[in-house]
Amino acid sequence: MKKPEPKKYLNAIKGYKGGLSKIEGVDKIYKLSSNENPFGPSSNAIAEYAKVSSDLGLYPDSSNAALKLAISSKYSIDSDRIVCGCGSDEILHLLARVYLDEGNQGLVSENAFAVYPLAIQSSGATVVRAKEENFQPNIDNFISSLTDETKIIYIANPNNPTGSYIKFDEIERLNRSVPNDVLFVIDAAYSEYVEEKDYSIGFELAKDSENIVITKTFSKAFGLAGLRVGWAYCPKKIAEKLDILKVPFSVNTAAQMAAISALEDDDHINFSVEHNSKWKKILNDCFAEVGLIVYPSQCNFILVEFLESSKFSAKEAYHLLSSKGIIVREMEEYNLPNCLRITIGKEEANLLLIETVNAFKK
Ligand SMILES: Cc1ncc(COP(=O)(O)O)c(C=O)c1O
Repeated sequence: MKKPEPKKYLNAIKGYKGGLSKIEGVDKIYKLSSNENPFGPSSNAIAEYAKVSSDLGLYPDSSNAALKLAISSKYSIDSDRIVCGCGSDEILHLLARVYLDEGNQGLVSENAFAVYPLAIQSSGATVVRAKEENFQPNIDNFISSLTDETKIIYIANPNNPTGSYIKFDEIERLNRSVPNDVLFVIDAAYSEYVEEKDYSIGFELAKDSENIVITKTFSKAFGLAGLRVGWAYCPKKIAEKLDILKVPFSVNTAAQMAAISALEDDDHINFSVEHNSKWKKILNDCFAEVGLIVYPSQCNFILVEFLESSKFSAKEAYHLLSSKGIIVREMEEYNLPNCLRITIGKEEANLLLIETVNAFKK
């Protein structure tokens, strides 16, 4: 019997797995699996969210005008070059849908954020991965991987799941080699957490470019992952095209209002970033002391590698942590089965993590 069939090239796609949030039989959970801000959003954003409850019958502003203005003034960028989405995921997918065709290639780093391959494959294009060195993206490998079929490059800077970052002069060097008809997407989801001085989000570089798109999210330092709001700074022609083709009401009213409020609360961001920096160092030392490899991270998580010689494998460590209520991220999906990715939590979670990790000592 005939039945509807998806497009053939979609059959190879496995789908995105989010971080788990429950463990059977364990009541008190510490979710360190999705790189959320453990403190959530600014209290002002929560108050704005509550206010929206009296207007739930009304459609949101589909132009996201007030949110775009708030972003524009916060980052000193033109509001008519901003596109808002249901998380930055919506925009990352939309870019692939609009600018990739079957037969094209999308270029990413070897250990790239899992959404990029999904977005590329969803458009029928092929994923090409530029080899990394020791979990560090390599710009020469990006340049040598460019072909006539490359139509989009996605780079997370800093990167999830490795935590590594690319110096701004290296981003500039890559940009000089990227042809003008290739979309160069720089995903700065974790930029607030970066401590290195030679890093830049790249708004200045994007300002005079016709092919650079920078994406940002409210899901990480701003603590609004549950509301789903992200945005992109694009060349004007690209912003116009995306605004025509995106789902009109994808950013709901509560998300718009809470995000505007979150943007204004520098104290909350500064507090969150300082907490992250302090505990990232402590946790780095703790994992290193028990003989594991911790990769340098500019994000709100660390990537820990378990060795043949380690007392536990990554899988065993995952189960031990789970038994204490600590959920971290397994890395099979990223083809890194010997690694765990661990979000920096609140003090209570971090202390329990340290106590548990001490059992990893040989
Ligand atoms: C590098 C990177 N970009 C984008 C996102 C998605 O963010 P959003 O919640 O805005 O869709 C994530 C989420 O984990 C991420 O790690």
